[in-house]
Amino acid sequence: MKFTNKMLRDNALNGKTIVVTGGGSGLGKAMTKYFLELGANVVITSRNLEKLEATASQLEAETGGKCLPVQCDVRHYNQVESMLETVITNFGKVDTLLNNAAGNFISPTERLSANAFDTIIDIVLKGTKNCTLAFGKHWINTKQTNTVVLNIVTTYAWTGSGYVVPSATAKAGVLALTRSLAVEWAKYSMRFNAIAPGPFPTKGAWNRLAWKS
Ligand code: HXC
Ligand code: NAP
Repeated sequence: MKFTNKMLRDNALNGKTIVVTGGGSGLGKAMTKYFLELGANVVITSRNLEKLEATASQLEAETGGKCLPVQCDVRHYNQVESMLETVITNFGKVDTLLNNAAGNFISPTERLSANAFDTIIDIVLKGTKNCTLAFGKHWINTKQTNTVVLNIVTTYAWTGSGYVVPSATAKAGVLALTRSLAVEWAKYSMRFNAIAPGPFPTKGAWNRLAWKS
């Protein structure tokens, strides 16, 4: 098998609705494209609606799938709840939540303001918690089964890493959340996984993490 071959069979996600936070760029956009190719409806969310609309139009044209852009800052629980409501209004149900939205920058920790540290924790850990809690409660209340939460961590969630300490701290929290709810909410037939990509030269990551002398 060639590594460029697609991993899943055609139409493997037919009839599924997937929400991808931070789906307007980078890895979220790439995963959205593949989900659309496999037949899923995909909702992409982030703070920048213009960017989301451009991505949705581009991916719909490239794949023939249905991609709905919805503005939502994952740091605010009320925005997550109204995003979920929009998803249900448009598609009737949601099957999968992909917690991909993130913030990060490289900095000696002693130079960070308290607000800078909080900003990363709020997007990565609180944002993942907000979406997971809202979607999980919805699935429990509606008795929907066979649902999936996929979280994105990094290899330093296990090891820690200097100079990206807020991100390392938040991603370790996301890993603990994933493992904890994989057990606690298994009784509701929710599946929790996390993936930890190595370095990918996305604009978002490289603009903020590549060392510039
Ligand atoms: C130190 C910084 C900073 C920097 C911002 N701040 N950038 N401090 N170094 N480079 C401080 C600000 O001074 C402010 O603190 C606080 O952080 C909030 O900044 P804002 O600009 O007001 O925040 P906001 O507009 O909400 O933007 C969030 C952001 C931004 C995280 C700062 O970069 C962003 O929007 N990022 C989203 C995309 C992203 O980061 N993608 C990369 C993911 S890569 P004060 O005290 O001044 O108010 C990734 C890969 C990991 O996760 C693995 C690689 C191997
Ligand atoms: P990216 O393109 O910058 O993606 C991050 C996305 O998060 C953006 O689309 C951004 O959109 C969104 N976002 C940021 N703050 C948000 C908020 N408050 N509410 C909602 N959305 C928000 O970077 P990427 O490299 O593709 O990263 C995607 C995921 O992969 C992240 O979880 C990252 O930690 C992880 N990862 C990346 C690498 C890598 O090397 N690239 C390695 C390991 C893990 P807006 O600005 O429009 O809000």
